[in-house]
Amino acid sequence: MSRTPVIAGNWKMHGKREQACTLLRDIAAGIGDAPPCEVVVFPPFVHLDAVCTAAQDTPIKVGAQNANAHAHGAHTGEIALAMLVDLGCTEVLLGHSERRHVYGEAENVIAEKVATASAADALRIMLCVGETQAQRDAGQTAEVLRTQLACVREHDHIFPRARIAYEPVWAIGTGLAATPAMAQEAHTIIRTELAALAGADAASETAILYGGSVKAANAAELLGQADVDGALVGGASLDADEFLKICRVVRE
Ligand code: PGA
Repeated sequence: MSRTPVIAGNWKMHGKREQACTLLRDIAAGIGDAPPCEVVVFPPFVHLDAVCTAAQDTPIKVGAQNANAHAHGAHTGEIALAMLVDLGCTEVLLGHSERRHVYGEAENVIAEKVATASAADALRIMLCVGETQAQRDAGQTAEVLRTQLACVREHDHIFPRARIAYEPVWAIGTGLAATPAMAQEAHTIIRTELAALAGADAASETAILYGGSVKAANAAELLGQADVDGALVGGASLDADEFLKICRVVRE
């Protein structure tokens, strides 16, 4: 069993086009041709074209932070998965907690997106799951994770290509990361559930990333956990030096 570590940057709604391209170039210069991990960035939609172009001839993969499940049609303000492929994106983030909890994306909407993206060979899904503080306090973490993973049930062929990002909602943007033990516990629940959904081999080869207030200072202990195969980094990914430090943790 070998899982390639993945360090991903979720740039959210930050920066102008030139800043996005500079950030990409700085990361590319820092990781060189043979990075110790896969490196993925998720820029805002409007910068995808420019960042995909800047990422050509680098090992960095570029993805979108969201997508619409429909192929085309009257969906004002939405972006189809095929449009992302057309730009050169190879990754798509689905079910991010801000989509779920701030923009009200329900489980069935995320399931439709997973279904459409599963059929797109050119795209690799990174599905985000994670409990709120209230759900954790109520002892519902495992149940929430299993419910959020159920959308892959009929699309188990996407593993181990697809990745799961465990992002406890209470840890995102708060500076309060999960402890390594909490992350390991949740990742074990996710891997066990993946085994039930997609088989033991696929589960053992699927990368499960931790996200939520990851920074250079806590990356080593989180990534040191047996089932933590990478990090999905928000705020700290906007600073090339900080992000590169997290990538370098993988080598240590
Ligand atoms: P954060 O965000 O690293 O700023 O907590 C992580 C995410 O939302 O993916």
